[in-house]
Amino acid sequence: MVVALIGATGMVGQVMMRVMEERALPVREFIPCASPRSKGKEVKFMGKSYRLGLVEDAIKAKPDVAIFSAGASASRKYAGAFASNGTFVIDNSSAWRADESVPLVVPEINADTISKSTRIIANPNCSTIQMVLALAPIHRKYGIKRLVISTYQSVTGSGVKAVRQLKDERAGIEGEKAYPHAIDLNCLPHGGDFTENGYTAEEMKLVNETRKILDDPEIRITATVVRVPVTGGHSEAVNAELSADFSVDGIRQLLSKTEGIVVMDDPAANIYPMPRFAEGRDEVFVGRIRKDTSVAFGLDMWIVADNLRKGAATNAVQIAQYLKDRKLV
Ligand SMILES: NC(=O)c1ccc[n+]([C@@H]2O[C@H](COP(=O)([O-])OP(=O)(O)OC[C@H]3O[C@@H](n4cnc5c(N)ncnc54)[C@H](OP(=O)(O)O)[C@@H]3O)[C@@H](O)[C@H]2O)c1
Repeated sequence: MVVALIGATGMVGQVMMRVMEERALPVREFIPCASPRSKGKEVKFMGKSYRLGLVEDAIKAKPDVAIFSAGASASRKYAGAFASNGTFVIDNSSAWRADESVPLVVPEINADTISKSTRIIANPNCSTIQMVLALAPIHRKYGIKRLVISTYQSVTGSGVKAVRQLKDERAGIEGEKAYPHAIDLNCLPHGGDFTENGYTAEEMKLVNETRKILDDPEIRITATVVRVPVTGGHSEAVNAELSADFSVDGIRQLLSKTEGIVVMDDPAANIYPMPRFAEGRDEVFVGRIRKDTSVAFGLDMWIVADNLRKGAATNAVQIAQYLKDRKLV
């Protein structure tokens, strides 16, 4: 495949290259791009150095696949030009996720929403991907009526600038800020911009993207997104009200059989998922599985994953691999 990577210097872009190498994606030609600020810089991929190019040049090269992780405005500006050249765009930003004609794909759940005529494929938000991977089999078997979600999200989810802010604060350096407040020794109940309904953009992504991926607009969902001074991955406390009775063992077994999920659930031995453990791993880890005793058919779970991996790069590379396997590229 000829692959362009838009945003190669970013938090996600750098992991994207590593995941493509690890999974031996058959890349015949690689075209890494970033903003004009990175002109002249180089990146290393599969043992070779590549000078970063501009997006305009990558469009002209008509790659088979263009993976975007450069923010929504770059995706909105350039994805259409790639698509009209026949390139498959796999977009990590929020630009296309709500578009009804654009599949929003977690390959283990709904790769079949990609068709021959698809050209833009949206990668869901990081906190949504890890959660729906665990919820999809539960929804299929028991039906989910309502979700109450609280997240504890890593600073790596806000990009290079946010990680630098945390490091600067820890080193006592006064630097550029990604957040409106200090992040070290703090929790910010503020993920993305506030919207008119009082939720933040990140919270509304969890609501809307979950409904789209699970193909069920009826699920009632409320979410609170919290940014915490952690770097290894996102953690989520998820409370689900199901339509039918279940046993905790039944949920453990169902999740143990689910591709991409690892059940880590032995509280008596202090075994439960944590971001320090999930960092650098492609799987989604689920633990603290228990019945919510306050409601009929209520389920509580703790879901952790490396947001840069399954929440972004791994999921995108799996989509590229799917296109190759299905001979769409
Ligand atoms: N971090 C996560 O966990 C995560 C998860 C899922 C999705 N995403 C999404 O992935 C995207 C990237 O996130 P990130 O965390 O990697 O951000 P980041 O660390 O800030 O990196 C942004 C990247 O985009 C490039 N870029 C910015 N404007 C550009 C333009 N006009 N043309 C070409 N390249 C441009 C930057 O290049 P320069 O270095 O030249 O500035 C950099 O390579 C965002 O849309 C984000 O919402 C992130």
